Amino acid sequence: MRPKVLITRKIFDEAIAIVKEYCEVEDNQGDYPLPSHVLIQKLKDKMGAIVLLTDRIDDDILSHCPKLKIISNVAVGYNNIDVEACTRRKVMVTNTPGVLDDTTADLTWALLLATARRVVEADHYLRSSKWMGWKLMEFLGYDVHHKVLGICGLGRIGQRVARRAKGFDMQILYTDVIQASTSIEEELGLRFVDKKTLLTESDFVTLHVPLLPQTAHYISTAELAFMKPTAILVNASRGPVVDEKALVQALQERKIAGAGLDVYEREPEVEPALIQMKNVVLAPHIASASRETRLRMATMAAENLVAGLIGKRPPNLVNEEVLQ
Ligand code: DGY
Repeated sequence: MRPKVLITRKIFDEAIAIVKEYCEVEDNQGDYPLPSHVLIQKLKDKMGAIVLLTDRIDDDILSHCPKLKIISNVAVGYNNIDVEACTRRKVMVTNTPGVLDDTTADLTWALLLATARRVVEADHYLRSSKWMGWKLMEFLGYDVHHKVLGICGLGRIGQRVARRAKGFDMQILYTDVIQASTSIEEELGLRFVDKKTLLTESDFVTLHVPLLPQTAHYISTAELAFMKPTAILVNASRGPVVDEKALVQALQERKIAGAGLDVYEREPEVEPALIQMKNVVLAPHIASASRETRLRMATMAAENLVAGLIGKRPPNLVNEEVLQ
């Protein structure tokens, strides 16, 4: 008998085809998040599921789905899944690391540059027919080259961001729970500093930490107060890493100069004040959204799911303990 699986939202046909070779598939091509009670109803007879980061897989859902063996997340972050509960219930959890690092670093840079050089504001100005010709004093932004970039979290994505900063002749500071090897520091031209030094000295602060209990509100009122009034904050990690209300206040009080955001504390909600601010560039959680990368993420999730269901070790298993 082929294992029954659920694909909770729209993904690429290529990925569905991989799963269909081995499994009986039910998919929600409607592409909206299924409410918990519907998710339970659809998952209760399934052995596996491909889920997106908008699906919250918690202990309650798991308790209704005794046949589940694997949850395959189409994302590198997996804070939408209660991994501890999955491990306790012997459900494998997989993610899609590695394939989105460069794409996410590119978008981080797009946000940084767009915020510093007021690209979105200028675009709106021109489209609304306000441009009357070149002016020396119009749309003055901040230089990026030769400035100080502070990277919080030097994982794979943080390193890709640093690599790009070299091309802008920037000084690069980073902070993390552990210091990188000397060879990485030398190759990328990095200086390891504590969080306070990074916030105080950087012209641009970019966040690349995972969302963990220790990193919730990693940037809040106290941290924003250390930053320069000319500094720009960029967040393409997870929304709750930044205290959004504190950010609004810091921007309103001009404690910092601007922000480029791809993620939000209560997605898809965004603090209304941010939407009104011209010095803030907002993207709808699209850091990994290139055609090539999203396709790779989906096929990787399909391969993880199939491996887990045919008795192989899924290549990107998050909770190894389940197999012991
Ligand atoms: C992830 O993979 O965690 C991103 O947030 C979506 O690509």
